[in-house]
Amino acid sequence: MQEAIILVGGKGTRLRPLTNHTPKPLLEVAGSSFIRHQVAKLMDAGVEHVVFATSYLAALFEEEFRDFTQDLEISYAVEEVPLGTGGAIRNAGRLLRAGADAPVLVLNGDILSGVDLRAVLRRHEDREADVTLHLTRVPDPRAFGLVPTDEAGRVLSFLEKPKTPQECVTDQINAGCYVFRRSVLDAVPGDREVSVEQETFPRLVARGGRVFGHTTDDYWRDLGTPLAFVHGSADLVTGRATSPLVGPPAEALIHPTAEVHPTARVTGGSTVGARAVIGPRVVVDRSIIGAGVTLAEGALIHESVVDHDSAIGSGSVLREAVVGCHARVGAENELPAQLRLACGIDIPARGVRLSGTAAACPTIH
Ligand code: GDD
Ligand code: MG
Repeated sequence: MQEAIILVGGKGTRLRPLTNHTPKPLLEVAGSSFIRHQVAKLMDAGVEHVVFATSYLAALFEEEFRDFTQDLEISYAVEEVPLGTGGAIRNAGRLLRAGADAPVLVLNGDILSGVDLRAVLRRHEDREADVTLHLTRVPDPRAFGLVPTDEAGRVLSFLEKPKTPQECVTDQINAGCYVFRRSVLDAVPGDREVSVEQETFPRLVARGGRVFGHTTDDYWRDLGTPLAFVHGSADLVTGRATSPLVGPPAEALIHPTAEVHPTARVTGGSTVGARAVIGPRVVVDRSIIGAGVTLAEGALIHESVVDHDSAIGSGSVLREAVVGCHARVGAENELPAQLRLACGIDIPARGVRLSGTAAACPTIH
């Protein structure tokens, strides 16, 4: 029986305020919670038992899968206190049933990837590896774990989040998908917080363990930042990235109960949630519009997330913004890029502008 662990205990701080009430893997991308896309991919690869390593808002995972009826067994390894990525893998390992030499797939809970999981498993078996890491190349590796390998694919070192330019010895990074020999995973210390990236991998390599990389140039994205999150969702809709849960490539994914005015344009792989109302001449490009959101006439929403039950006033402009739930942005606001608006915030009409005329001064001088 092929088994897998998904690490889903992180707080998702870089995606706040979306993650205030919802763990990152339960946020919706392209019409389904992200973890459902991962589960579908694991099932396609023949996985029959998955363990969710949960901590932050753990109960919500059990709620999400309460009515799950497909042919996959789901177990929950809940950490009262976060155990770190290594501690989480070991803790989840207690619920596995495979033998000591069996290969166990481990996924970070925020990786959207086109890698062929069966190929990673095959590579692991061929090399008789202790651990096999899926590796990818990125233009700027500083936010990731650097993993140089030799010609045979053997991992030479593991350096998590390099601090200096000298430490950036490669653009090849840990893609957050591993195969562990079960006995190796069981040997992670269980009595304290352990980082698999900062402790387990460097130690295994230093001890001469059989740690191999499987490098591919498949589609790959870590959805942990707002811009990556909206791009990942849009890529699933437009077909640049694929998931068993997403239909044929489309310009947008609009919930059947949403109302989109005929003069509005929803493009670039945007999604529009249930009961949302998109007014005349609104432009929504490469964005995620949550359930019950209202976008008034002429609003422009670009590479942004507007969480459920928020309202954006007429003529307002959002770029690379994250708007928490139940927020109100009045008419003709022009928000600077990369703003995050707290849940429930209320910005009056013409309250924020980058150009043109601000509202008249309400006090008498
Ligand atoms: N259960 C549990 N417990 N899960 C955790 C914990 C914990 O204490 N800490 C983090 N996680 C989970 C997160 O929920 C996420 O799914 C995964 O572990 C990785 O954490 P991130 O916070 O997303 O890490 P990162 O993106 O900075 O870096 C990691 O991913 C990169 C690839 O995207 C590292 O593995 C890097 O080496 C890697 O390059
Ligand atoms: Mg991440």
